[in-house]
Amino acid sequence: MKKLLIATLSTGLLLSANAQAEAPAAPAKAAMCVGCHAADGNSVVPNFPKLAGQHANYLEKQLKDFRDGFRKDATMATFAKGLTDAEIKELAAFYAAQTAK
Ligand code: HEC
Repeated sequence: MKKLLIATLSTGLLLSANAQAEAPAAPAKAAMCVGCHAADGNSVVPNFPKLAGQHANYLEKQLKDFRDGFRKDATMATFAKGLTDAEIKELAAFYAAQTAK
């Protein structure tokens, strides 16, 4: 019984460690992006680009460019304008870690 309990507990720990390694928690600001880019960045609407699995450096640059006006898109400018460099880094890392579907 004790062995079973230990086995169950360690499996639980392993599972949660795996879940964390595979899917980092979505940053708070990702809630603003879900409607268009989907929760995991695999947008299903053709007008909205897929973000899942893109290189983090690329995503980071695009978000900064939208925010700072170097890449022009009225929609994305609205959503990028309030983001700090740190939030952009977090968002880019999150979408880069998702599996493209
Ligand atoms: C209302 C819909 C909408 C929302 C909400 C939105 N986006 Fe976008 N996003 C777009 C559209 C449309 C484009 C394509 C813009 C263009 O044509 O240049 C885009 C482009 C992008 C790109 C560039 C992708 C590429 O392949 O070059 C990134 C990165 C991005 N969005 C991230 C985000 C993030 C992060 C958020 C949340 C903070 C967000 N978007 C919220 C509609 C949206």
